[in-house]
Amino acid sequence: MRKIPKICVIEGDGVGKEVVPETVRILKEIGDFEFINAEAGLECLKKYGDAIPEETIQTAKECDAVLFGAITTPKPTELKDKTYRSPILTLRKELDLYANVRPIYNFYENQRFSNPVGGAKHFCSDNNIDFVIVRENTEGLYSKREYYNEEGEFAVAERIISKKGSERIIKFAFDYAVKNNRKKVSCIHKSNVLRITDGLFLEIFNNIGLEYNKKFNMEFNDYLVDATAMYIIKNPQMFDVMVTTNLFGDILSDEASALIGGLGMAPSANIGDKSGLFEPVHGSAPDIAGKGIANPIGTILSAAMMLDYLDMKKKGDLLRAAVKSLLEKGFVTPDLGGSLKTSEVTDKIIEHIHKI
Ligand code: NAI
Ligand code: MG
Repeated sequence: MRKIPKICVIEGDGVGKEVVPETVRILKEIGDFEFINAEAGLECLKKYGDAIPEETIQTAKECDAVLFGAITTPKPTELKDKTYRSPILTLRKELDLYANVRPIYNFYENQRFSNPVGGAKHFCSDNNIDFVIVRENTEGLYSKREYYNEEGEFAVAERIISKKGSERIIKFAFDYAVKNNRKKVSCIHKSNVLRITDGLFLEIFNNIGLEYNKKFNMEFNDYLVDATAMYIIKNPQMFDVMVTTNLFGDILSDEASALIGGLGMAPSANIGDKSGLFEPVHGSAPDIAGKGIANPIGTILSAAMMLDYLDMKKKGDLLRAAVKSLLEKGFVTPDLGGSLKTSEVTDKIIEHIHKI
């Protein structure tokens, strides 16, 4: 690791262009970093004919970490004869970022926000919420092997579950649990239907679980994914660390973000053996892009995970403490029922950092 970490910054499209620069502004206040901007996304595709140029991939590989915003997926009409590769999926593949870590936690008990869209009165359950979804990031239904049969009568998506891919993500989840003083790892699957693919994933999980149970007294169990979708809402406290395949992890983590205030709040880390890429769970949010009201907290908390990864845990904790203080005071954007702009949230965070 360099003395001054080199960070590749990819803002992307839509609100990515708002929440990432604001997060960089905070990072500049709390430490020395070298930031290198790189392009990707729909705008980049329109400019260069490539949504993720080679130069961006090289920059990402050469840096100590990547901070990523979000991109807009082009509509088929925007593609015409251009070939398209998804920037985030390409980066996950090129940097072999096989583990997607998505923590779901509230900052204090009864953390509540009024719901600006009406409906349920409050976001957030009453009790403490604190679990982590570890999502396999390179295979499953994201294997990109989709095709029509010869007659064009039906389409097939191949769902790849490899022994190697399953072993490394499941080991990652157990190691994560040990390192972070977690007590239990749950495997989320659908092996009652996907008997071969998820059967393999579950079998490997149970074997590795036994090892970690013996060595570290780690508890392990498993749930079907459909029931899990219900438990996340009804009794989220039953989870500690979850490990699951690619698509299930994608869906469950968006669902789980509703427990803590919605997509604007949820951070994530994409981790490989050599690289780390940090991004909010949300997309480019075209419905609110350009208005200056996107919630930057998901990105700020992703940056905090990046600081942990760069061995700067104290600085990561400082960011989390600043976020907590803002939430307690109600200094939040409209998605959480507040009236602050993105940049005003950042101003408050910087103010808090300077006070400490
Ligand atoms: P989205 O996550 O962009 O938005 C879903 C909802 O959450 C919207 O109501 C939006 O306003 C809200 N939201 C998202 N981020 C927010 C923030 N920071 N503050 C306040 N509210 C926020 O998902 P959607 O609309 O399904 O997709 C939009 C585009 O983003 C699509 O082109 C999609 O393919 C892309 N996408 C990209 C991702 C990435 O780059 N990693 C991930 C997910 C979607
Ligand atoms: Mg998603």
